[in-house]
Amino acid sequence: MQTITITKPDDFHLHLRDGAALESVVNHTAAQFARAIIMPNLKPPVVTTELALEYRDRILASVNKQYDFEPLMTLYLTDNTSAEEIKTAAESKLIKALKYYPAGATTNSDQGVTDFKKTYAALEAMMKHGMPLLVHGEVTNDDVDIFDREAVFIDKVLTPLAKDFPELKIVLEHITTKAGVDFVLSAKENIAATITPQHILLNRNDLFKGGLRPHNYCLPILKAEQDRKAVQQAAISGNAKFFLGTDSAPHERKNKETGCGCAGIFSAHIGIEIYAEAFDETGAIDKLEAFASHYGADFYGLPRNADQITLIKEELSIPETIAFGDSVLVPFRTGETCAWQLKK
Ligand code: DOR
Ligand code: ZN
Repeated sequence: MQTITITKPDDFHLHLRDGAALESVVNHTAAQFARAIIMPNLKPPVVTTELALEYRDRILASVNKQYDFEPLMTLYLTDNTSAEEIKTAAESKLIKALKYYPAGATTNSDQGVTDFKKTYAALEAMMKHGMPLLVHGEVTNDDVDIFDREAVFIDKVLTPLAKDFPELKIVLEHITTKAGVDFVLSAKENIAATITPQHILLNRNDLFKGGLRPHNYCLPILKAEQDRKAVQQAAISGNAKFFLGTDSAPHERKNKETGCGCAGIFSAHIGIEIYAEAFDETGAIDKLEAFASHYGADFYGLPRNADQITLIKEELSIPETIAFGDSVLVPFRTGETCAWQLKK
């Protein structure tokens, strides 16, 4: 049986929600990861340091005592985020980044940025304090095809923004296209990207296999095979600009299986295991540790974790549903298997 032991990984992109939902999902992540960057798209969004620190307390209160898990908090950037708020966030030491959602791009993004020029005072302060900007890289204009939204965002928003703030640390979150990979590769060292398991493993055909597959619907949407391949190659390339961010995003089953379903794939139940499968499949299991446990921490200026985990190549059965508040969610690989599992 094949096993590998690696530095304990971190998840640099995670949605935990709040209340009973938070309590249902957080321990799936805490069982596998040492730390996670927590997305701020709650209702209402986490726009101040005070709100983020209160949310952090609720997260810590929901973590089982057996786990040592550190939530790395973020603020939700709006048109009105002030330089003063950035300073407060930076001085807290517990806020690690700001998240840029273009208004209307995805779940709970209504209060996001309407025009990137409106954020320039905040970005200036972020650059000064070394605070990274985490970008949901999609334009929202109805006249742009949904499959082109990442490429157009890079062209129209990210390129000018990166030029205006040359020292700003930027993470292009959950990249899905060759255009995204190329942009990051050609940028300076202060620009990196996270990669989700679904964007390594699935392409847009997986949205329609034998019928409509709402549980494979996330944003940015799955792309064509040549884009998936580019993302997969980036993940296994050993380039430190690309690191792990699951974008695990839980939604109650009835909000996915409906006439207008929510975007988001829940993968925290196999958070590291699914990447082990994806890397092993391409003969790149030796590249997993740096991608999952070194490059993200290095980019954020955090120490690498001291603990280790062991993964075993042994089939893990995935349940059809997982408890979610007083309801259930349908997890990634529902009712199927994952080729690797964590040694307990
Ligand atoms: O699929 C997604 N789900 N993409 C996002 O950007 C947000 C997330 C969510 O919060 O559900
Ligand atoms: Zn996300």
